Amino acid sequence: MSKTIIEPFRIKVVEPVGRTTPAERRAALQEAGYNLFMIPAEKILIDLLTDSGTGAMSAEQWAGLSRGDESYAGARSFFRFRDAVQEIFGFEHVIPVHQGRAAEKILFGLRAAPGKTVPNNTHFDTTRANVEAQGARALDLPCAESADLRNEAPFKGNMDLDALERTLAAAAPGEIPVVMTTITNNSLGGHPVSLANLKSTVEICRRHGIPCFVDAARFAENAYLIKRREPGQGERPVKEIARDQFRGFDGCLMSAKKDGIANIGGIFATNDGDLAEEARQVLVVTEGFPTYGGLAGRDLEAIAIGLHEALDESYLEYRLASTAYLADHLHAAGVPVVRPAGGHAVYLDGRAFLNHLDPAHLPGHALTCALYEHAGIRGCEIGTVMFGRLDEATGELLPAEHDLVRLAIPRRVYTQSHIDYVIESILELFAKREQIPGMKMVWSPRALRHFTARFAPR
Ligand code: F0G
Repeated sequence: MSKTIIEPFRIKVVEPVGRTTPAERRAALQEAGYNLFMIPAEKILIDLLTDSGTGAMSAEQWAGLSRGDESYAGARSFFRFRDAVQEIFGFEHVIPVHQGRAAEKILFGLRAAPGKTVPNNTHFDTTRANVEAQGARALDLPCAESADLRNEAPFKGNMDLDALERTLAAAAPGEIPVVMTTITNNSLGGHPVSLANLKSTVEICRRHGIPCFVDAARFAENAYLIKRREPGQGERPVKEIARDQFRGFDGCLMSAKKDGIANIGGIFATNDGDLAEEARQVLVVTEGFPTYGGLAGRDLEAIAIGLHEALDESYLEYRLASTAYLADHLHAAGVPVVRPAGGHAVYLDGRAFLNHLDPAHLPGHALTCALYEHAGIRGCEIGTVMFGRLDEATGELLPAEHDLVRLAIPRRVYTQSHIDYVIESILELFAKREQIPGMKMVWSPRALRHFTARFAPR
């Protein structure tokens, strides 16, 4: 067998990509207030904004859409969805929701409140927003290695267990309603969390009598990275590792738009029957009847199939190889990227890439705009624009810990030549990086500002 890892599929349906001239892209940027969320997708050549809901469905999933049972209650598709979730995750109560943040809203709506704290290895932006929307505090407890972007440690997504122990020990009774852990750790480089770390998280929570949940958005990629990186796991089937990840946890929240390889959908699953009943009562008011939860029957069918396909080992081998291919080529050419490569995305270190800019001049955001203008590639800033605090007095954004640019790779969508084009374009931009200007924010909304804020070059 050749050593080349090929895309383990062939292409049946194609969609043209958006070709534009540099002048058209400059005009588009200006019109969008330099916010890439505001650019029409037809003006994007390679869209690495997110891996969420952007995957290509398989022939089996498309066939599943036809089989979708649209009965209001008790649809066959619900039972196939429930069985897939029970088999893969091992939780008894399975509730469909329309996407990940709906599951977050239900859990934190029921359990978070002013004065309460929710620890997490690192909250994703919507998770943080849903905790904070209840008046509670979202506390990130990432492991120490994660702060060093160049460190090659294999499990930089891990929870800082000592900090978790200290936090739970110091908390007043009832102060911490639930502990979360996010696999893989999306806000911090897409790094995996080890099985050992998951197990210890459960142990600590049990000892303190506090429920713990997994944010399972990228559970399959996390399981495959465990297989490749954690001692003693290399020979085990990924499916077995995937299930092991959830052992001892009280439940999981999941956006099915990532490792469900579906275009929409989410999951709330738990072993806590009382919580499930409370969740169903909220669901029926805000999302839909408990056997469809805001989804069509065909969506449930696509997710049931996608969850299994995401655990296919030749798919995962290709998936992780293509992320590493992009990260390793850039790294070898001296481009500052977060090391090592994670599962779903490559993260450029915007602050190091544009080290002529002051962090207050939004280097991550400036790089995101420059990459679009130069090559029609859309990435996503994960830095000061997304997470920086606003100085109440001056209205200036205070720099976040890092200014990263995430290049998220949709599942089964782009081929190696697309990725080669991305590498080439970034190297060209790197060669003329000193010409890239800083940015300033000229308007922002109160919550989740990165989606709609407007900017201008300095
Ligand atoms: N949790 C994690 C770890 C996520 O990455 C996301 C979404 C969510 C929860 C929310 O799920 O979008 O279905 O409501 N992440 C996307 C991204 C948007 O681009 O990383 P959702």
